[in-house]
Amino acid sequence: MRLLIVSNRLPVSVSKQNGEFTMTKSAGGLVSGLSDYLASLGKGTSDVSEYIWMGWPGSNIEKEEEDYVRQKVQQEFRASPVFLSKKLMDKVYLGFCNRTIWPLFHYFPNYARFELEYWHEYKRMNEVFRDELLKEIREDDILWVHDYHLMLLPAMLREKVSNPIGFFLHIPFPSYEMFRMLHKESRTEILEGLLGADLVGFHTHDYAQHFLRCVLRILGMENHMGKIAMPDHTAEVSTFPMGIDFQKFHTMDVSPHPSEKPGRGKPKMVLSVDRLDYSKGIINRLKGFELFLKKHPEWHGKVCLNMVVVPSRTGVGSYRKIKSQLDELVGQVNGNFGNMTWTPVIYQYTSLPHKELIAQYRMSHVALLTPLRDGMNLVAKEYIASLTDHKGVLIISEFAGAAKEMSESVVINPNNIDEIADAIAEALTIPVRDQVRGNRIMQRRLKRYDVTKWASDFVSVLLKTSKVSRESASRKLLNAATRKELLDNYRRAGSRIILVNYDGTLVPYSKYPSSAEPTEGLRSLLSGLESDANTDIVIISGRGKDELEEWLGDLSLNLTAEHGSWIRDSGKKGWRLLKPLSSEWKEEVLPTLEMYTDRLPGSYIQERDYSVAWHYHKADIEHASQLVKEVNDHLLSIVTNISAHVLHGSKVIEVSNSGINKGELAMHWLSRKEYDFILAIGAGWSDELLFQTMPDHAWSVRVGLTQTAARFVVREQGDAIHLLESLRQGE
Ligand code: UDP
Ligand code: G6P
Repeated sequence: MRLLIVSNRLPVSVSKQNGEFTMTKSAGGLVSGLSDYLASLGKGTSDVSEYIWMGWPGSNIEKEEEDYVRQKVQQEFRASPVFLSKKLMDKVYLGFCNRTIWPLFHYFPNYARFELEYWHEYKRMNEVFRDELLKEIREDDILWVHDYHLMLLPAMLREKVSNPIGFFLHIPFPSYEMFRMLHKESRTEILEGLLGADLVGFHTHDYAQHFLRCVLRILGMENHMGKIAMPDHTAEVSTFPMGIDFQKFHTMDVSPHPSEKPGRGKPKMVLSVDRLDYSKGIINRLKGFELFLKKHPEWHGKVCLNMVVVPSRTGVGSYRKIKSQLDELVGQVNGNFGNMTWTPVIYQYTSLPHKELIAQYRMSHVALLTPLRDGMNLVAKEYIASLTDHKGVLIISEFAGAAKEMSESVVINPNNIDEIADAIAEALTIPVRDQVRGNRIMQRRLKRYDVTKWASDFVSVLLKTSKVSRESASRKLLNAATRKELLDNYRRAGSRIILVNYDGTLVPYSKYPSSAEPTEGLRSLLSGLESDANTDIVIISGRGKDELEEWLGDLSLNLTAEHGSWIRDSGKKGWRLLKPLSSEWKEEVLPTLEMYTDRLPGSYIQERDYSVAWHYHKADIEHASQLVKEVNDHLLSIVTNISAHVLHGSKVIEVSNSGINKGELAMHWLSRKEYDFILAIGAGWSDELLFQTMPDHAWSVRVGLTQTAARFVVREQGDAIHLLESLRQGE
């Protein structure tokens, strides 16, 4: 199987200087981690036999240079470039990705800009990626989409291909209150985009829970153990904390770089490594170090803060601003505390290759990592893995995903400058024996769940979940062969009945219920079917009889309203009750429902002749789900002694006369005559009772790919019409 990795960044960034192309390793944990995983492929057993990595190679590449760049990155990195115009990347990469999503998802709403143009271009960029991918995808590919630049891609791909689709978010997924700040369209489409995947992975349990809550509150979709039933698949949401290539960091020979910790008499090294990003808390860290120096003059001349700061996103104003703040503060600390023989802050504004970085990890007594928010923070893991002598102390912010797995380190809140200062003092004095003990425990953990385990776990869960969901989706889908069998049965049958639901089956669901009147095409389809003397058509609806009368009353059809309370026989005028019914119970039920309607804003009561429905689809979903059990139990306690029953449907609770439902109604029709062909077709929760009562030889079809008691499903409402058309034409 081939793994097709898709991310905004390729592992290499191509740029042009003085007319010459240069290729540099891209910055960040996504590239670091995935590159190490891909390098490990082939060393062990894996479902993945080959891979290809698709992404943006960087800007400034002219049209006529694209072929050259494509060839180069293909040969050297098994990468396939997606070229994007500078204008698009300005609006998307610098715009929606790094001026909207990044600050919002890292809890910096004040830095976030909400421009509609950014969003529209973001959609366009995801489409460009989709189109490029479609040229590349093979049948046996596993598609793995990465990070916040491509959150719409999973759903876009699902519309076109049936390969397993995985998505992994490398940054935090924020709480609902933060996420909902996005425009309505973007927040909805981002969630739907992600749910196009078979598997959506996050670094931590919290991020996954935040995502699930947003799905519930914004899309109204519940999950069962992290699984969400989508129309044509199940989307599974789970946690996969990204690891590192432990062996590489632990065993790499870093010579000729020095890697020994400075001996007696030399300053101890406190290391920090990050991209220059406001989310990394670099300013707080420097202030913490400054305060430490103020509080602890005994450490003057005996400790240095070594900051490796990797240039990042210099096209975004907030990044440039943090750079000047940092430059100023470094100067201030060094000016205030330094002297001829001691520079308190060593400031390297560069990206180091891993060999050199590992050397610096090993030389450092302390790693001081203070992000205000960080999806994971691989540097924390790399530092601990690199300590071959097991000596060193990690200070890590509680707001980094990595802190969850590294409880043996010193965990701090970086918003508290005092806490940073005190943690430095503590770390410098932790007894070596305790350092070694804690580091060994963390190393064992990092070794066990390394980056290869992370990726192979993700891929194997993805394969499993997509297989199960494809099997169950295809098991019931009305395919060409079954459809032909159904048509043959129809043609051969001497007497036939078609029980068909109205909303969602004959007409699409409508936002405004009274605008769902039938088109002329539908009316002629129904009368065409009914005109065959051997065929009975029964429209089974939950609507009131007046609406059905107005829309279909002039046709010679059997109509039933209020889920079967009312019947109007074909060719006859006037409605009759299916059986004697009472509505006295409404006096008891209505006040109860009114009380709950007052308690749940957005819920409302729909009263019919012989039924009362309490709808809560417009109410706050979390509040509603807490209340509905109480409403249901309360109603059940009322109806036990009267001739009514309670049905719980999709975001509705309905009370009606006992023995009135679509199942009972179907039995009424089927007991009148022997039919050789029975078709029941419906789209809603109340049709499930219809399907459940069908005899074995009946054809039952549910519209929409969902869990159902029907024998078959069709994808959408148009397919139901198409099926009925075929019956009319006898095709
Ligand atoms: N890194 C590097 N050279 C440097 C500094 C950092 O290669 O000079 C790598 C580092 O090894 C790590 C990654 O950059 O793998 C940073 O990942 P992290 O998850 O810590 O942060 P991100 O940049 O993804 O926010
Ligand atoms: C983080 C993101 C990555 C991104 C990296 C570097 O790690 O999760 O998706 O590639 O930062 O940022 P850049 O903007 O240079 O791609």
